[in-house]
Order: sequence, then structure tokens, then C-alpha cells
Amino acid sequence: MRRLFVASVVALGLAGVLAHPGHDNQVRRRKTLGFGPVHPHAVYRSEPTYIQSALMGTNADPFEVAQRFVEDITRTSSPASSFVIRKDSYTDKNTGVTHVYVRQYMHGIEVADGDINVNVKDGVVLSYGDSFYRGTEQDPFISGLTRGLPDPHSDYCGSLFKELESRSERLEELLVSQRKFAAENDNDQIPLSNPEAVVTQTMGDLPHIFEWNCAHVSTPFFMAHNPSFASQQDSMGDPSRALLQFMIAATPNSELAQSMMENPEAHLEKMKFSWETHFVGGHGSISAVVDNVPDAINPVKAKAAFVQIPNGDSTSLELVWKFEVEMQDNWYEAAVSAALPHRVISVVDWASDSPMPIAPIPPVPKYNTGVYSVFGWGVNDPSVGNRSEHKENFDVLASPVGWHSLPYANDPQSLRAKVKSGPRGEVFRNTTTTWGNNVFAHENWDGRNDWEYNYRPDAGADMAFNFTYEPKETDRTDALTEAKKYINATVTQLFYTSNLVHDLYYRYGFDEVSGNFQQHNFGRGGEENDAVIANAQDGSGYNNANFMTPPDGQNGRCRMYLWNTAIPYRDGDLEAGIVIHELSHGLSTRLTGGPANSGCLGWGESGGMGEGWGDFLATTIRSNKNYSDYAMGAWAANRPNGIRNYVYSLNETINPSTYKTLDKPGYWGVHAIGEVWAELLWVVSQRLIAKHGFVDTLFPPAPLADGTVPEGDFYRPAEYTATGERKPLVPKHGNSLIVQLVLNGMKLQPCRPSFFDARDAIISADQVLTGGENYCDLWLAFAERGLGPDARVDGRTPWGGGVRTNDFSVPAKCKADAPTV
Ligand SMILES: *[C@@H]1O[C@H](CO)[C@@H](O)[C@H](O)[C@H]1NC(C)=O
Ligand SMILES: *[C@@H]1O[C@H](CO)[C@@H](O)[C@H](O)[C@H]1NC(C)=O
Ligand SMILES: *[C@@H]1O[C@H](CO)[C@@H](O)[C@H](O)[C@H]1NC(C)=O
Ligand SMILES: *[C@@H]1O[C@H](CO)[C@@H](O)[C@H](O)[C@H]1NC(C)=O
Ligand SMILES: *[C@@H]1O[C@H](CO)[C@@H](O)[C@H](O)[C@H]1NC(C)=O
Ligand SMILES: *[C@@H]1O[C@H](CO)[C@@H](O)[C@H](O)[C@H]1NC(C)=O
Repeated sequence: MRRLFVASVVALGLAGVLAHPGHDNQVRRRKTLGFGPVHPHAVYRSEPTYIQSALMGTNADPFEVAQRFVEDITRTSSPASSFVIRKDSYTDKNTGVTHVYVRQYMHGIEVADGDINVNVKDGVVLSYGDSFYRGTEQDPFISGLTRGLPDPHSDYCGSLFKELESRSERLEELLVSQRKFAAENDNDQIPLSNPEAVVTQTMGDLPHIFEWNCAHVSTPFFMAHNPSFASQQDSMGDPSRALLQFMIAATPNSELAQSMMENPEAHLEKMKFSWETHFVGGHGSISAVVDNVPDAINPVKAKAAFVQIPNGDSTSLELVWKFEVEMQDNWYEAAVSAALPHRVISVVDWASDSPMPIAPIPPVPKYNTGVYSVFGWGVNDPSVGNRSEHKENFDVLASPVGWHSLPYANDPQSLRAKVKSGPRGEVFRNTTTTWGNNVFAHENWDGRNDWEYNYRPDAGADMAFNFTYEPKETDRTDALTEAKKYINATVTQLFYTSNLVHDLYYRYGFDEVSGNFQQHNFGRGGEENDAVIANAQDGSGYNNANFMTPPDGQNGRCRMYLWNTAIPYRDGDLEAGIVIHELSHGLSTRLTGGPANSGCLGWGESGGMGEGWGDFLATTIRSNKNYSDYAMGAWAANRPNGIRNYVYSLNETINPSTYKTLDKPGYWGVHAIGEVWAELLWVVSQRLIAKHGFVDTLFPPAPLADGTVPEGDFYRPAEYTATGERKPLVPKHGNSLIVQLVLNGMKLQPCRPSFFDARDAIISADQVLTGGENYCDLWLAFAERGLGPDARVDGRTPWGGGVRTNDFSVPAKCKADAPTV
């Protein structure tokens, strides 16, 4: 009975939002999966650890220190356990901290979620995160699931279902009382609330989350129709069954899912796989590439690995196939049990959506350097300023050859045309379009995956990207045609904003070795050929945006959409906050857990912070000396308060978010969780601004001819160590300092961080950068919104649930600074 009601609410909830996809004012909801087990034993320790490694002295090789440290803390592990220091580990040029990423192997097979990150400076381990498997299973090749361990996915869906049930009850009560009220007050004057809005507010995104993550992920239907299929245990020899199961769960095309369920053998037959052999640090690995996978747009990479599933207070190993599946709207990293190929254990979508509106929006009646007509840096959107001319003021450290140049050897068009150099043997190709080393920007009206030859404005020899933007009011039917007339201007804007974001983040340490997005890395390390592919006016949807972040060395992809929230249509490319939010997914994903690990911000609190950093950075970039509250996406969404529950504000009446807010109904999706994190960071940043002041431009000064960076008024006067080395440069002002601490914190925090871990990493970043002079300011600010040292979460669930306790107190040594109550 209850189940029936829940089912009808799910249908209603979906109908409320999805009935007419693509219709005016309907938010496009991209199907996306994201879940995985909690690791009860994972830790992040940010107090300096003076173990024997310290005895090695300040000149010790940081990799050797990390090696010894990891040997030390894994001494008691099973003899089958070994580890490899990943080659995407690096030393931060400014702070001198070496970020070492370590991956665990058992019996020579990768433990995909066995991560240690060690932060080393001057021979000392400053902090580390650790989620290595610590058990001693006799035979990890025997599936824990077949031995009766709780299936993490069933647990996840069970707890989601309970929540769905309790909300449905609440919804039922609300709707009944509304009907009763209407009957008793048979009076046209009394405005009745809109039942659809009641459904949306009560149920939030939960019906979608449940539908996507729990339907067809383990398919009893599939098994019932194909008993032979289900009983075929093994599949170490063949990843295709596990992959087919995943595609049934992942495809947004329900007819295709149905066809795969009804006739799996036909689909399996078409899939062709070829084995590959790799050697990583002496560890062999079993991997394959699978072609003709239904709904995948590229061959799928498959690799045998272990993942950990909870087993009481510790974990147990499960042998899985780990897939990398690129689809039209998703790019998944998924782990599916090898023994039970109908069990999907974890999924991370490397694609992230933009700020998603909570409810449907109501309808409302060297070459030459470039010069661009654009909304300048800091003009968040057309409601706050006009366009003006701006030069290609690229940062010479971040973009040594400007924004319109790249080597022929890294140029996808030249590679395709087999052109290896310029007419006089030049190495660099200069373009007069929105095509360069950091960003490829273009229209993508048909919403597909092709991009290399999509239309781009060509400014010609004088490089004046001077295109009109004067959208006119039209009928709704002509609004799209009208918007497309300004494609030259909007691609130009997207290119301009994205390049500045590249340059800005570069100067705060998102450089080649830490995994930034560039075709060519100028010999400065890191993986190449991964500029951002930026689609303007992407035709695959309206009223949203998204970003896909594969590991370093593969292009990131940003999709910007038109918003049909007003006439003329509003173009997301022109709202810098949305573009910055999207590009920041690339930043946080590459910096957390290392450049080559894109699976660290997949769901729950980690996934939420992935959204929150983008909001925070976008808001900080647009802010100026005169304090103001800010909304996200207000112009594009045509709503003064934007697309979040609250605007970002210091005033607790205006934005009451605290750590405990995460327990509330409605705080299920990553965007709501992210909003709380961004608000916390906003409070922290204002405290640092009150202490250190505000600098008008976040861009540090250009380097001198000898390559050194002058302090200017931007950094504090340089300090030197006893041996004459310059200490890390410290941004002098509050707003630049917090951006630096946030980026440095991302580098220090572990894979799959919690709010506590990310907070501790920021405090630790301040310790490294300033010797901890903002220790109490940081604690006071976090504590103001409940994230003090004794904040707690009990019964943490993989989707970010649990019962939280706020702590408004601060560590003892900060008590003198605390406000007296
Ligand atoms: C690109 O511009 C640079 C700087 O002006 C110039 O030296 C180089 O010859 C140009 N390359 C080509 C292929 O024209
Ligand atoms: C843009 O320019 C117009 C005309 O000069 C002016 O009326 C308007 O106020 C400006 N808009 C903004 C947001 O500054
Ligand atoms: C875009 O600019 C090109 C010149 O680069 C011009 O030929 C074309 O007409 C413009 N397109 C539109 C839609 O204005
Ligand atoms: C851009 O166009 C405007 C209006 O047509 C013109 O006044 C301005 O000089 C142009 N700028 C450049 C750099 O060509
Ligand atoms: C800040 O406010 C002052 C006083 O109202 C004003 O003169 C100044 O232009 C404002 N600054 C900015 C950047 O908005
Ligand atoms: C906070 O906002 C509320 C509601 O807008 C307002 O009444 C109150 O005065 C504000 N408090 C402060 C300290 O500005």
C-alpha cells in the first residue's frame, strides 16, 4: 500500500519536472548516477607527524620520506599488500610542499579506492589521508558479496527508500490538508498553493536520485529473464557482462535499456573487446578496451581492480571490473563486481552539472593580440555592466604564447591534416579564431560530441573580436533563432572568460604538474593535450551547464546552454559566475587526490564541496571592496535570488546555513550540500578580509625579466630562510589569501574528503603558508556556522546523510578571540 503511494509520488515528482523536457522554462535534468560505499576506516590527519622520516633531515628527498612513511604506517598490512607512488605526484613550486599520491595493490592488483596522499615538506610529513585496505582476507578473490556481506548498493537504496517513504507520508498529509482547507473555504479569494510546488518542495531531487541510482542498477528482471546469464560466475575472463549491466543502469534511453534487458546476448555479441597489458611500477594489470558498447560514444576502458566494501568497522575487498565509459552526457568511472556482474558497487560521474534550480522557473513575459568586445572580468552578467573592449591581457607565466597559439604537434586540426609545422618551419600555429592552447571555444547547436570543426568566429588579421550583441525581443518561437545570431559574440565571451580563469588559477598554483588544462605544457611537467573544450549555446539542453573532468591528459569539456527564462533568451556564456563554476569543477577534481584521479569528488559531502568551491570562487571573483550579498545564476535564471536556497550572506537571517543544515530534507543533492560549503567559505573569507583588507584585482603581478615574481602590493614582502631561499609568497589581502588557501587546501586534502577534512586542509594550508597566523580566525569563522572542532556526524551514509551536531566552540588557544556570549 505504502509502496504504491511512493511509486505514484515518484511518478508525480518526475512529471512535475520532466513532463515536457525541452519545453519553455523546464530545467533540463541530465540523468546522472553517483554512489559508492563509505570507508569507515578512512582518516585524514593534519597534525605534523614526526615519525622516523623527520630524522632524515630537511634535505631528504620528499619521495623517499613518503616512501618510508607509507612503509611505516602500512607495516602491519597483509603481506599481499604493496603500493606504488603514482607518477602524477608533484612538488608545489610556491609552497615547496610535495604532494605524493600512493595507490595500493593487493596480490599485484590495484585497489581502486586504496589511496594514501602524503604531504611532505623539509623532510616532515605535514599531513596525510589514508584509505588503504587494512584487512587480512585469506582469499580476496572470493567475492564478499557471495559470502553474504551486506551489499553496499542495496544498503544505499534501502536507506534512500526509507527517506522517500517518510517524505511521501509528509507530502500526503500536506496535500490532504490542502484539499480539506480548499473544501472548507469555498472562496475564490483564498489563493491555494500550487500542488506541484508542494511536491517539489517536499520531495526535492530525491525521486530523481532514487530513480537514477536504484532502478535497474541491480536488475532482478534481467536475471529472471536470463537465469543462465546470472549464474555465470567468473567473468574475470570477460568484462562484457558486467559492462552490459552497467549500461542498463546508465543509459538515459529507456527503450535501449529494455532491449538490453530482454536480449542481452544480442548486445553482448556485438561488443568486441581486446586485451591490453600495462606495467605500472612493476605491477602488471589486466585491462581491455571494449568496442560497440551500446550508448557509449567511445570504446570503453576496462580494468580488473579491487574495491573496498564495508565490513563492520573495516572493509573487505571485492574484485571488480572498473570501467571508464564516455557517453553523450556523462563520463563514468564505475566498479562492477566481477563475480556477480549484476552488482554495481560504485559510480562516479566525471561530468558535473551547473547550479541546478530547485524548482521550475515561472514563465516571465606576436602576432596580433586579440581585442574583444566583452563583459569585462568582474562584470558577472549583463545586469551589472555593459560590454567594452578588452585586450588579450594574458598572463605571461600562465600563457607564455598567449591565448591564440599552440604547437602544431599539439593541435588537433593540424594533426588531423598531417601538418607538422608552419610554412617556414614554425613550431607554433597562430590562429585568428577562438582556438588556442588553453581553450577551444565554439558553437555546438546540434548538441553532439563533435567539436574540432564546429563554427568559431574568425577575427581576421587584426584580431578584433568585435561582434554585435543586441538581442531583440521576439515571439517565443523565434527566440532561439534570435539568440543564435549572436554566436560570434557569445563564443568570444566564453573564450575570454575561460582563458582568464585558466590564467588566474594558474597563478594560484593550478599549473601543469598539478593537472591543469593545456594542449602544450612548455616542458613544465604534467600531462598534455587536455585544453578545455568549451561549447557555447550547446543544443543538448536549456537552463543548465556542465563540465566533464577526465584525468590529466584528456580534454575537459564544458557545455554552456541558453536559458529560456526570458525573452530574449539569456545566454549562459555571458554569465561569468556560471562559466567559473563549471571551470572550477576541473580545478577541484584535478587538485583533490591528484591529477590522475578524477574519482575523488563523486558523491555525498565530497561531491557537494565540488559544487561549493565553484560557487565560492565565482562569488569571490565578482565581489568588490564594498561588501554585498550575492546570488548564483540570478541573471540567467531570471530570479533575483538565483538558483540556490539562499543568497551568500554574512547575515544569519538571510542565509542561516550551518553544518547541521545538511541533515534537512532538501539537502540531498550535491548542489544543496555545496551551497552550505560555499556559505561557510564565504564567512571565512569575510573574516580574512576584515583582518587583511581587500585587493582590487586577484591577478598577481607579472614576473620580472629574470622570471622572479615581484611582491608589488600584492604579496607581503619576501622572506628568506636561513639558507637564503625565498619562503612561499603570501598574498597580502584577505580575498587573495583565501583563494590561495582554498587551492592549497585542495592539494592537501585526501581523496573523498568530508567537510572536516576540507576544513582541516585549509587550516593546514595556512600553517604551511603563514606559519598558522590565521589559525584562530579560520576556526572562529568555521565555528560560526557550526563546523567547530567538536562538530560530529553519526551514522554517515554514502549519499551525505547522517545526524550532524554543530559545534560553535573553538580550540582552547582561540578562546580569548571568541565572541563572549
Ligand atoms: C606565430 O607568431 C609568432 C610571434 O609573432 C611568430 O614568430 C611565428 O612565426 C608565427 N607562426 C606562424 C606559423 O606564422
Ligand atoms: C549599459 O549602457 C546603457 C546605455 O549606455 C545604460 O543605459 C545602462 O545603464 C548600462 N547598463 C549597465 C548595467 O551599466
Ligand atoms: C560572425 O562573424 C563572421 C566574421 O568572422 C561573419 O562573417 C558572420 O556573418 C558573423 N555571424 C553572425 C551570425 O553575425
Ligand atoms: C568595434 O566596433 C565598434 C562599433 O562598430 C567600433 O566603434 C570600434 O572601433 C571597433 N573596435 C575595433 C577594435 O575594431
Ligand atoms: C564602493 O562604494 C563607494 C561609496 O559608495 C563608491 O564610491 C565606490 O565606487 C564603490 N566601489 C566599487 C568598486 O563599487
Ligand atoms: C539581517 O537581515 C535581516 C533581514 O533582512 C535584517 O532585519 C537585519 O537587520 C540584518 N542584520 C544585520 C546585522 O544586518
